[in-house]
Amino acid sequence: MASSFDQIIDRRSTECIKWNVYDKDVLPMWVADMDFRSPEAVIQALRERVDHGVFGYPGDPFKLRETIVERLYRLYDWKISPEMIVFMPGVVTGFNLTCHAMAQPGKAILMQVPVYFPFFGAPTNAGMVRQEYQLVQRADGSYGIDFDAFEASFTDDTRIFMLCNPHNPVGRVFKRDELVKMAEICLKHDVLICSDEIHCDLIFKGHKHLPIASLSPEVARSTVTLMAPSKTFNIAGLECSFAVVENEALRNKIQAARQGMVGGVNLMGQVAALAAYEDGQDWLSEVLVYLEKNRDLICKTITEEIPELKVCAPEGTYLAWIDCRNAGLGDKPAEALVKQARVGMNEGAVFGKGGEGFVRMNFGCPTAYVEESLKRIRQAVHER
Ligand SMILES: Cc1ncc(COP(=O)(O)O)c(C=O)c1O
Repeated sequence: MASSFDQIIDRRSTECIKWNVYDKDVLPMWVADMDFRSPEAVIQALRERVDHGVFGYPGDPFKLRETIVERLYRLYDWKISPEMIVFMPGVVTGFNLTCHAMAQPGKAILMQVPVYFPFFGAPTNAGMVRQEYQLVQRADGSYGIDFDAFEASFTDDTRIFMLCNPHNPVGRVFKRDELVKMAEICLKHDVLICSDEIHCDLIFKGHKHLPIASLSPEVARSTVTLMAPSKTFNIAGLECSFAVVENEALRNKIQAARQGMVGGVNLMGQVAALAAYEDGQDWLSEVLVYLEKNRDLICKTITEEIPELKVCAPEGTYLAWIDCRNAGLGDKPAEALVKQARVGMNEGAVFGKGGEGFVRMNFGCPTAYVEESLKRIRQAVHER
């Protein structure tokens, strides 16, 4: 049966970045937004707001605060109160702001690589130093943490651990025991956790997202959690994100760091976020089924028809992390595949150590694009 997500929507005629970077014959499977219309409830709420016609300064989005409080409790049994939410335009803003708030020149910020590449700029932006722990790739291609080695990468200078969960690009949704161990190590070393959980709603069957701050009051006190409806409901261009900061002193530091520079959320972003959280659940359930089918198609096709490549099914996100090291595509496989397959994906090396030889494919799109890109990639790899 046809799904509404099968609909091909022209995005090139809009300002969208995904479809306007490569030549017209390249199928863009890169930047992390989806080629789907947002939930009808979101579009309708925006339409009604546009029809009102007056777009002056908005006040505090108290209803959105309450909706988020209720949602976090319902989904994760995580009890927070409305004033613990700090709105901001984006999650990248959120982790940079956290680093600025905690900035101690020369001190260090640790991250698990390969990772979403804007993480790399955050320490230097705050006059701090970057430390890296490399995730371990297991025999089946999935990633894990060697906790002794992870702890050994902490030094006396480490002040912040930037966690990405669900993890972009490797697709892990960390399990409770992994989060507990990470949190214990951070508490032991008195290191703040800045947890980017932007992909928290994009979780496949058999997995469950757990906000690290929800583990215990001790962990919560020492964590900044960053979330947003942007990836979930495909409204990234509306720029509405939030941090949950339970520790009041920490929250005050973050608010102080933004003064005069970082505003809140724009009016349309607030409207869209509220409608999405209130009325977008059915759409979200449907999109997850669709994404999972795309994911399974990628894994099956690669395993059965392009064995030169390897992929391990992501547990969450709509990003597939594809190992091209045995495909003879050279050390820049994404570049090679743009040229030879006319498919645009992210170069793995951009995500840091351990990313070399990989590409990241965005499958948040009609299945027809997934099929076509796999067909092109298969041909390019086999023609070599
Ligand atoms: C892990 C992660 N964090 C943050 C972002 C971007 O967040 P924002 O657009 O809200 O700054 C992305 C987008 O791909 C992401 O994957």
